[in-house]
Amino acid sequence: MKKNFPMIVFSCMTAVVLLICIYRSLPREDVAEKAPEVADAVSGAEGIQMDVPLEGTSTADVTPGTVAPADVALEVEEKDAAVAVDATPETKETETETAWEIETARTTETEWENETEWDETRRVALTFDDGPHPVYTVKLLDGLAERGVQATFFVIGENIPGNEEIIARMDQEGHLIGNHTYDHVKITDLSVEEACEQVEKTSALVKEITGKDTEYVRPPFGSWRKDLECSFEMIPVLWDVDPLDWTTCNVSDVVRRVLEAVEPDDIILLHDYYESSVDAALLIVDALTEQGYTFVTVDELILE
Ligand code: NI
Repeated sequence: MKKNFPMIVFSCMTAVVLLICIYRSLPREDVAEKAPEVADAVSGAEGIQMDVPLEGTSTADVTPGTVAPADVALEVEEKDAAVAVDATPETKETETETAWEIETARTTETEWENETEWDETRRVALTFDDGPHPVYTVKLLDGLAERGVQATFFVIGENIPGNEEIIARMDQEGHLIGNHTYDHVKITDLSVEEACEQVEKTSALVKEITGKDTEYVRPPFGSWRKDLECSFEMIPVLWDVDPLDWTTCNVSDVVRRVLEAVEPDDIILLHDYYESSVDAALLIVDALTEQGYTFVTVDELILE
């Protein structure tokens, strides 16, 4: 008996290996029964494929956008096969892994759907410098709130005292508050210490009200020094469309200049310190909304 023991062990191991091999060769239908949720994930992916408008009928005509759902389906099929191997071992680890894989497949679907929407959206960021103004900024905030639009305000530190409620309102209503120095100075004319003082003083005033630093900085006159490192992280923000709104009181001129120049993902520069600019801004919002644009704050355009 003792002599035969290694032989018996060897035979048992061979039998186990054989059983595993037979199980692996089982038809795929079994998997659908054993893991119905995985089958759902596969049919879900196929569902996406159906929703994609195919341009042309042959595979050669398939546009890059239509390739993505096929990839998703393929990935899920691969995961399906992986589950087939692990279908018998019923450990918790396997269950968790399977759930994770299904979740990943679903996330991939969602990401792909979001990406498609993202591409089709025409976004633009409205930015307002030099405020807050006790009257015009409030008028602008009212107009933006009526339209459900968020903008970015690059505020001047010395305009904040007395207008703290306006700053608080900007923050509460989802606008982004940026920094436009303390008294509208050209950063490149200053020493590092002086320049930092300008932005830090403004940021401190905003932070006292909102609890947040003003990370996004619009340098007056567009002049920025790259070596500037102050006490908080700063991201300089310039612009794509400048209608020179401060040079005219003519509202329709400002509107026309912006509408002629604007393209998706542009940053538009305006000033909430002038009534004509505020009136123009609200007309621009209406016109661009009609053209299918949505309005975002600059961080959404920059942080991609
Ligand atoms: Ni300015």
